[in-house]
Amino acid sequence: MTEKLAIKPARGKLGILTPGMGAVSSTFMAGVEAIRQGLSFPVGSVTQLGHIRLGKRTDARQPLIKNFVPLASLDDLVFGGWDIFTDDVYAAATKAGVLPQTLLDQLRARLEVIKPMPAVFDQYYVKKLNGPNVKSGLSKLEQADALQKDMETFKRKNGCDRLVMIWCGSTEIFLKRSEVHESLTAFEKGLRENHAQISPSMIYAYAAIKSGIPYANGAPNLSADIPALEQFAKETGAPTCGKDYKTGQTLLKTVLAPGFKARLLGLNGWFSTNILGNRDGEVLDDPDSFKTKEESKLGVLDAILQPQLYPDLYGNIYHKVRINYYPPRGDNKEGWDNIDIFGWCGMPMQIKVDFLCRDSILAAPLVLDIALFLDLAKRGGLKGIQEWLSFFFKSPVVPTGLYAEHDLFIQQKKLKNTLRWMMGEELITHLGREYYDE
Ligand SMILES: NC(=O)c1ccc[n+]([C@@H]2O[C@H](COP(=O)([O-])OP(=O)(O)OC[C@H]3O[C@@H](n4cnc5c(N)ncnc54)[C@H](O)[C@@H]3O)[C@@H](O)[C@H]2O)c1
Repeated sequence: MTEKLAIKPARGKLGILTPGMGAVSSTFMAGVEAIRQGLSFPVGSVTQLGHIRLGKRTDARQPLIKNFVPLASLDDLVFGGWDIFTDDVYAAATKAGVLPQTLLDQLRARLEVIKPMPAVFDQYYVKKLNGPNVKSGLSKLEQADALQKDMETFKRKNGCDRLVMIWCGSTEIFLKRSEVHESLTAFEKGLRENHAQISPSMIYAYAAIKSGIPYANGAPNLSADIPALEQFAKETGAPTCGKDYKTGQTLLKTVLAPGFKARLLGLNGWFSTNILGNRDGEVLDDPDSFKTKEESKLGVLDAILQPQLYPDLYGNIYHKVRINYYPPRGDNKEGWDNIDIFGWCGMPMQIKVDFLCRDSILAAPLVLDIALFLDLAKRGGLKGIQEWLSFFFKSPVVPTGLYAEHDLFIQQKKLKNTLRWMMGEELITHLGREYYDE
C-alpha cells in the first residue's frame, strides 16, 4: 500500500467551459442534460460506467470508478464556453444534427440558456471559418486578459466552486514549435507583440493556465503543447492534457496494431480513408488544417510498432491517411481501412475495416471523462501534463524528452494504476501472487 493522495472533496459546482461550441461540445452538454433528466445513459464514459479491480482477484473488490475516486457528480456540472457563432447549445445541437431532435426538444429550456461568450478568433488560423461573435480590437495579451475575466464572471454568476477548460474548437492550421514557444518570457513577449506563431487555442490555454484552471485540448493543434505552457502549468498548479480526442478510426487503429505487435505479425501497409460532412470535415478540407490532423493520425503506428526494434516486421510500412469532406454524411463519418499484414514465411493477408461511426457520439463521453479527471487531478494537487489521461487522445502530450504511449491497453493500465496510486491502493501488475508473497 502506498500513502493516499490528499484530494480535496468535490464540493460545490464544477463549471466546464469549452472554447468551441459546435458538434462535440453541444452533443456532450445535451447528453449530460439528458442523463441528468433520466432520458439517457452514459454509454462510453469511463468515469460513469467503468469499474476498477482492487487488490487480489479473490478479494472481489471491483467498485465503480466514480465510487472509488472522489469525482464531481453530474448534478454539480455547469456548462459554458465561447464560439464565433451566437447559437446557443440547443441551436448548435440542432444544426449539428447528431442527437435526435425529439430528445433535444425535451431538453430545449435547459440548453437554450447556455450561450457562447464572444470568442478569441482569427481566420488566419482556421481558413474555412468566419463568424460574428468575436472579441475585436485587442492585442493577444489583452485577449488573454479578457478570457480570464470571462472565466471569473462565469464562475461568479453560476456560483461555481471550480472550473475546467476543454478545447472543442476547430482544428487550427499546422504550426511548428518555434522560439516564441520555448519559454514563458518569449511567449508573453509574443502575446504583447501579436506574434503570428501564437494561435487562439494557445491564448485560451494560457488564460486557463494563468488562472490555475485545468486545460485539455481535444483538437490536434499545438495549443498547450509547448515548453512555455508546460512549465507555466507546473508553476500555477494547472493540470493539462491533450491532444486530439481518440475516437473513430484512430481508436480502432490503436486497438488493432497492439494485437499485431503482440503476436509479431508483420505489416506492409495501412491505408485509411474517411468521408465526413460536418463542419469539422469542412475545416479539415483546408490543407493547412488537414496537415495538423494528418500529423496527429500518422504518429500512432510507429509509436506502437517500434520499427527500430522490429525492422523486419515494421521497418517498411506504407501508411496513408485521407479525410474527404462529403456533406451528405453530416456527422456520420465512414472510415475505411485496408490493412496489409504478413505472417509465417512472409505470407500476405489483408484486413478490411469499414467503420460507420458517429464522430461526436464517440467524442462526447471523452469530454465528460477528461473534465472530471482533470478536476480530480487539480483537487489532488497534480500539476502540469497528466500523462495518465493519454488514454483519451490520439497525440498524447508528454513531458519534454519522453515519448508518448499510444497502445490503448497500456494507456488504460496507466490510467487505472494512477487511480489506484491516488487512493493508496496496490498497483496491479498481473503477476501471480504465488510468485512473490504468501
Ligand atoms: N468528433 C470527434 O470524434 C473528434 C475527434 C478528435 C478531435 N476532434 C476535434 O474536436 C474539435 C471539435 O469538433 P466538432 O465536430 O465539434 O467541430 P465543429 O466545427 O462542429 O465545432 C467547432 C466549433 O469551434 C468553433 N471555433 C473555432 N475556432 C474557435 C475559437 N478560436 N474560439 C471559439 N470557438 C471557435 C467553431 O465556430 C465551431 O462552432 C475539432 O477540432 C475536431 O477536429 C473531434
